[in-house]
Amino acid sequence: MAVDLTVPRTPETGSLPSGTRLEMLDPEMDGIAAAAASAVPLGHVDFGLWSGVDRFEYWRQLLAGEGPCGPVLGEASRVVRDQGGAILGALVVTDMPASGWWAGDAWIPELFVVSGHQGQGLGGLLVGHAVQACVDAGHRRLGLTVSEGNPARHLYERFGFQPFRATWLIERPDLR
Ligand SMILES: CC(C)(COP(=O)(O)OP(=O)(O)OC[C@H]1O[C@@H](n2cnc3c(N)ncnc32)[C@H](O)[C@@H]1OP(=O)(O)O)[C@@H](O)C(=O)NCCC(=O)NCCS
Repeated sequence: MAVDLTVPRTPETGSLPSGTRLEMLDPEMDGIAAAAASAVPLGHVDFGLWSGVDRFEYWRQLLAGEGPCGPVLGEASRVVRDQGGAILGALVVTDMPASGWWAGDAWIPELFVVSGHQGQGLGGLLVGHAVQACVDAGHRRLGLTVSEGNPARHLYERFGFQPFRATWLIERPDLR
């Protein structure tokens, strides 16, 4: 899905729950891979996508800008922490290079809110921040991938994201 950032929009005005804070992502932050894993438990539509993936190495590469999604856009990316500093959620925005299916522009490779804090507006605050920061920085388009059946799609549609491409993954349990 992608949202056209050149279309005029009214910025979302939500406020953080008391005791929580929004911070910039630190490329070497501890705990983010484990927090992200807790947001996608067994039964979540994306659970199987992580089978065999070294989550710690994935997050290390993503935050270092070494992965296929490109360098992290620091002003658009954020982590939410509680009073004690525990990670409640995070959203990463990168400058995704152009490819055969993407013209090249801002991209959200990761968004999560830990299980006990979902449905309370944190995801919306993170997406709202990312959209506004990308508009302010002059980006024209913001894209992401969402699995069929993931309710996160409703959240993206609220911000004007629309489908632009579909891919199918064929699982071979015999090769696991
Ligand atoms: C998707 C996610 C980041 C949304 O964060 P959130 O804080 O729960 O979202 P908000 O409370 O701001 O907004 C709720 C909206 O998100 C959708 N949503 C997605 N997952 C949800 C969940 N577990 N609980 C409640 N709402 C959820 C709802 O449909 C709702 O949309 P609506 O208000 O139009 O019905 C979070 O639920 C999550 O981490 N899910 C697991 C990881 C994941 O799927 N990430 C997205 C990958 S593309």
